[in-house]
Amino acid sequence: RFAWRTPKGKLPLPPGRFGLPIVGESISYLRDPARFMNQRQKQYGTIFKTHLFGRPTIVLIGADATRFLFTNESQRFEMTNTPSFEVLLGANSIGVKTGTAHQILRKQLFQAFEPRALAEYGTTIEDMTRRYLHKWERMGTLTWYCELKKYTLDIACKLFVNVETASDENLEKVYQTWSDGLLSIPIRFPGSKFDRAVRAREQLLALIDEMINQRQQHRNSNQDVLKILLQAQDEEGNRLSLEEVKDNVLGMLVAGHETLTSALTSLCLLLAQHPEVLQAARAEQEQLGLTQPLTQESLKQMTYLEQVLKEVLRMAPPVVRSGSRKVLESCEFGGYLIPQSWDVFYQIQETHQDQNVYAQAQRFDPERFAPDRAENKQKVFSYIPFGGGIRECLGKEFARLEMKVFAALLIREYHWELLPGQNLERVVLPFSRPHDGLKVKFWRRE
Ligand code: HEM
Repeated sequence: RFAWRTPKGKLPLPPGRFGLPIVGESISYLRDPARFMNQRQKQYGTIFKTHLFGRPTIVLIGADATRFLFTNESQRFEMTNTPSFEVLLGANSIGVKTGTAHQILRKQLFQAFEPRALAEYGTTIEDMTRRYLHKWERMGTLTWYCELKKYTLDIACKLFVNVETASDENLEKVYQTWSDGLLSIPIRFPGSKFDRAVRAREQLLALIDEMINQRQQHRNSNQDVLKILLQAQDEEGNRLSLEEVKDNVLGMLVAGHETLTSALTSLCLLLAQHPEVLQAARAEQEQLGLTQPLTQESLKQMTYLEQVLKEVLRMAPPVVRSGSRKVLESCEFGGYLIPQSWDVFYQIQETHQDQNVYAQAQRFDPERFAPDRAENKQKVFSYIPFGGGIRECLGKEFARLEMKVFAALLIREYHWELLPGQNLERVVLPFSRPHDGLKVKFWRRE
């Protein structure tokens, strides 16, 4: 029913509305994206039109729709970015490249995240996790989202460019200014959010430049993502240009730590709200016995924890919707016309709530991923926290590794309790998190 077809005759546009002239429905979307999607899905179903950020747009929800997009990516659809994203990520970023250029770049960047490279990262992640767990124990009470942001940025800086950010608050601030600009209006005047972000980008690039110079002078420096990328070659022996290395290292800092901060915050919240799951995960750790340091082998044995992490990413995907794709050629989906030059995006959050795939989808239930139930296996692309197809998350395995090491050490040795009087409501833009940042009391278990 959903096979690719060139539209013949007159097909209707999907249901939906465009809203106000120029701004379209952007304001109500930005005010509350989750509500926006829920209301329209109820009213129009899993495919509808709207008008967002100056573009006529079609929203696709559910496994069939995502399959349609993933299998036609690059022939019928192409990544498109807002102007601020394009400037701040840079022309050589994987997030901006399309077609063959994207595929060539992706293969080279992947060298930093293939299993051989990942095996080298575990020890740093474990050391950094222990350092932060001790810090939080000393603090006693904390706002976890802010702390997890520091933790994931520290890991990313250490593993990607071998820099210790813990001792450099200035770097953290510059990074934040750049990252805040990604959702800003792309107008430059002195002091505007976008202007500050462009300057922050220049500062960060200068820093990466300096690091590249150091690497070139000291060839036997420590292994990190930057070093792998400087040495990466494709089958013909072509290397990445320095501009490509710089833009992509910068891009990975945002792709690789904001998402993980969100995922880990949701993990901590959901475990606090579901003590029976925490207890079962702890029982698994106790049964496996404590090995120090963690090994690839011991991580593999934590099968219940794996289910918990999967369920966290289903219930609270850090990225609730994909980046926008431009329609290259008019096509048909589900009996509707998808017109050329419109934008399309797939919804991760709503796809994960499909009651036909997930029994009692709104319940936090790690057992749904147990081998005998494996609800996500019933339908391809019904579970898409990392997207799918040729643009699937490049750092997926890195993210899963960091989440597992963090979770294992946390639940073995520590306990936490939600502080009263906080707003736990989920904010989803730019990345999913609880409104007040998750305030907790934190202590070491007896
Ligand atoms: C792409 C999610 C962690 C690097 C994506 C996409 C999603 C995603 C949904 C696809 C977006 C689209 O289709 O428009 C996540 C989640 C993470 C995570 C949920 C953590 C829990 C990471 C990490 C890195 C990373 C750790 C790298 C260090 C990338 C890159 C792309 C991407 C480079 C673009 C791939 C391409 O266009 O070919 N991610 N991500 N991500 N992610 Fe992640």
